[in-house]
Amino acid sequence: MAIGMVSISTDNGIITGNAENNNLHIHTLLYQKSKGFHMHTELKSGINWVGYVDWSVRDFHSFDTRHGATYNSYLVQDEKIALIDTVKGGYAPQLLTNVRELVSPDRVDYVICNHAEADHAGAMPAVIKALPNATLVCNAKCRDILAGYFDISAWKIKILTPGETLRLGRRTLHFLDTPMVHWPDSMVTYIPEEKLLFSNDAFGQHLASSVRFDDQWNLHDILLEAKSYYANIVAPYSRQVLKTLEAASQLDIQMIAPSHGLIWRKNLPAILEAYFAWASGHCVPKIVVLFDSMWESTAQMADSILAGANAVSQAVNVQLLHARRNTLTRIATEMLDASAVAFGSATLNGQMMPAMASALTYIKGLYRCVKKPAFAFGSSGWSIGGGEQNAKGFEEMNWGHVDEKARASWRATQDVHQACFNAGRRLARKAMEQ
Ligand code: FEO
Repeated sequence: MAIGMVSISTDNGIITGNAENNNLHIHTLLYQKSKGFHMHTELKSGINWVGYVDWSVRDFHSFDTRHGATYNSYLVQDEKIALIDTVKGGYAPQLLTNVRELVSPDRVDYVICNHAEADHAGAMPAVIKALPNATLVCNAKCRDILAGYFDISAWKIKILTPGETLRLGRRTLHFLDTPMVHWPDSMVTYIPEEKLLFSNDAFGQHLASSVRFDDQWNLHDILLEAKSYYANIVAPYSRQVLKTLEAASQLDIQMIAPSHGLIWRKNLPAILEAYFAWASGHCVPKIVVLFDSMWESTAQMADSILAGANAVSQAVNVQLLHARRNTLTRIATEMLDASAVAFGSATLNGQMMPAMASALTYIKGLYRCVKKPAFAFGSSGWSIGGGEQNAKGFEEMNWGHVDEKARASWRATQDVHQACFNAGRRLARKAMEQ
């Protein structure tokens, strides 16, 4: 074998790809193989995880992936062999290496594409090229999106009709469309003979790990990451999530294998219950006070809102979140089960502070369908803007104001503090009603 060439022979086949990019991977692979180290993980006999663990990714289209991510792909070996989902573009060599550990590439019959987003289908062109006898199986919407990204004219494609199944041998693949969980094309794949659901984005978490199952990690931490994932990815589509949960309740499921993070084989009731709560808009007695300040007037108003809420009940959890010192991911996650919110901003050049504008745009996208009692506040000097633009944002989302907005001119006066205190009280009463 010759390291550094475009193709390299191993005892399991040929690794192909960009030599410059893959040299390090190939060296690592050869070392691992010499030690008998395998990258695939068995879920059930003949069904293996063959995906990629992205330990270093810290930004996923604005999602702060502080614990990395995984792109889960699964190989089902029966009389026919199916690969379920691929990985993010660029990681095809690693996925194909894992597949080759188990089977010769020319023996793979199907590639199931549950969802065309690039983190699952970015590697599709390289995978289709490397699996010469494979037919891509997907729904029509998925095919259209793939055609928008790639030249698919030479691909063998089978378009699924609603309710269609695919027999592999002892096992059958059932396909269930789950539109908007997370894109219009999204679907899940179910194997009734194994009571196994490949749920794609649903029930996922951005969590890089060397273990694959939920019983190998702290459940509390997995649920926190699942909540963050839900809040930042799935939240706008909660109505569709409820429909998916309803459909899933008709299935006999013992294992849920999502396309991100850990596989649920022990704590299914916990994640299903959590999803039902999040999708139903279940809130806890919590107020998110999100703000950005320039010379502390707006920050002091936020303190008065907190004081007003605490005066009603210290059981109300008030989260003061400075927009510039918290990630969008944290802000959106705290918003998910908050009963009420207050958004404040100083005025910079006639506009709200840039970090508040960013957060408001993000929140509008995620929570436009969820009405929360809201209060706008802010400070200004010679021109107004910050608080007013927050109030306008609430109106665009059709959220209900609990009070008139409060605005400080230069410094927050006693009257302004009193208005914020009163708003905090009202928000707390609303929160206690939840
Ligand atoms: Fe994990 Fe919607 O992609």
